[in-house]
Amino acid sequence: MDQLDLMKEVISLSKQRGFVFQSSEIYGGLKSCYDYGPLGVELKRNVMSEWWRSMVHEREDIVGIDASIIMHTRVWEASGHLAGFSDPLVDCKNCKERFRADKAPRAEPGSEVEVSEGGKKKGKTLKQTVGEGGYVCPVCGSPNLSEERNFNLMFRTSLGPVDPLQEVSQALAGQSRSAEEIRKLMDEKMRESAVYLRPETAQAMFVQFANIQQALALKTPFGIAQMGKSFRNEVTVEHFIFRSCEFEQMEMEYFVEPGTQKEALEHWKTERLNWYLRYANDKSKFRLRQHSAEELAHYADDCYDVEYEYPWGWDELEGIASRTDYDLKKHSECSRVPLTYFDQEKTNPETGKKGYRYTPYVIEPAAGATRATLMFLLDAFSYDTPRADASGKEKRRRVLKLHPRLSPYKVAVFPLVKREGMPELAREIVREFFKAGINARYDEQHSIGKRYARHDEVGTPYCLTVDGDSLKDSTVTIRERDTTNQERVKIEEALSVVKKRLETV
Ligand code: GAP
Repeated sequence: MDQLDLMKEVISLSKQRGFVFQSSEIYGGLKSCYDYGPLGVELKRNVMSEWWRSMVHEREDIVGIDASIIMHTRVWEASGHLAGFSDPLVDCKNCKERFRADKAPRAEPGSEVEVSEGGKKKGKTLKQTVGEGGYVCPVCGSPNLSEERNFNLMFRTSLGPVDPLQEVSQALAGQSRSAEEIRKLMDEKMRESAVYLRPETAQAMFVQFANIQQALALKTPFGIAQMGKSFRNEVTVEHFIFRSCEFEQMEMEYFVEPGTQKEALEHWKTERLNWYLRYANDKSKFRLRQHSAEELAHYADDCYDVEYEYPWGWDELEGIASRTDYDLKKHSECSRVPLTYFDQEKTNPETGKKGYRYTPYVIEPAAGATRATLMFLLDAFSYDTPRADASGKEKRRRVLKLHPRLSPYKVAVFPLVKREGMPELAREIVREFFKAGINARYDEQHSIGKRYARHDEVGTPYCLTVDGDSLKDSTVTIRERDTTNQERVKIEEALSVVKKRLETV
């Protein structure tokens, strides 16, 4: 299938079958904001609970937290987000588009390009010279651009019963001031009560490092994990839920003794790549890419991205950064609270004496739960073999080949007809699945063929059909999504077939 068609298909299936809707759609939608529907919330939660299982429950060395989204403003001062978490923005003087300089198409500085006036498709064309920046407008190709301005990506709001605008208006009442002075005053007043929506979940793990380490008497190497919402006022929102302003992250900070960070990075890059491969169909679409020296964030001494080949090409799925001791040291400096670790058994390499106090180094696998949800939808989307319909027309049907642990429903149970005790038995089977903690769905609408197709489209791995014989011999037909094979099994056996399949990852 054409890759762009794949993206269109996934977006349309997401809406039609209740995975993802545009936020506030009836009011025209809110750009870059999305709502996860009944099927989407199950898929996203399954992605997140699989991450939590492998990162927290299945490991002795990692614990979890759930911190507040709004944190003390000094956290963001210390982490560098207030001063430096920004995108370089540029305005095109030709077509008035505002865009990110670092993502703009490149051109040779000093070369000449031909653009149409005002960015219109038809009309006068002009020759313009590419400036020092070496890039042009992504919409009209013009190099006639404004200076770059830094735009902070954090969402600012106020905490408490304060109205900064009231204070500004009082301060300005009856005065005549320049626009620049007004801007400065507004900024000062807003800053007094300002708080920010977190742009990453990571900082809480650094800020709570000492509390968590002491409360659980953790020994290095150990990790603190968190999943939850993050917010960034992204300038470029793109590719459906790939990059949005409100999204969910799954991050873990792994604290290690200085000098062992390379080994830990090796471990985590393999571990995280393999986590995706366990659930994916097409393993050739994943790779690890090391960051070049220019790409490295100021706090990192090495970094790898797990990349996926999306319909628009290879792009980031998760970052695994070696963050040195930067964050703990910064927070320690700014809060004046020591954020160190003491190993009484270890010899201090500098003094040669027993007892070694150090600031741990950190390896951080940082994944996006909403981005991973899109990736799993793209990976799972397929068509079944085309078949002729009643009018002889060849038709192909959509099938989501999701890993059963990720599938919204694990099993659908159908009564063949809506009488003779079949609905009652089917509902009883659904209850048995619920008791076993397995999400099952009762479905009696339309023909059996249509019901199979409906569940193939949302990735339900098994369908059970209750018929007249089921009432006599406690058997049902079990149909597997990917092979479409059907088998007759005892009802208890159906439960164990599904359970077994869910255990194998
Ligand atoms: N603590 C490090 C950190 O936040 P990041 O590379 O900015 O690193 C980590 O983000 C992951 O979060 C990304 O790999 C991506 O999966 C996800 N992510 C970041 N920004 C996003 C956005 N605007 N929309 C959706 N997912 C995003």
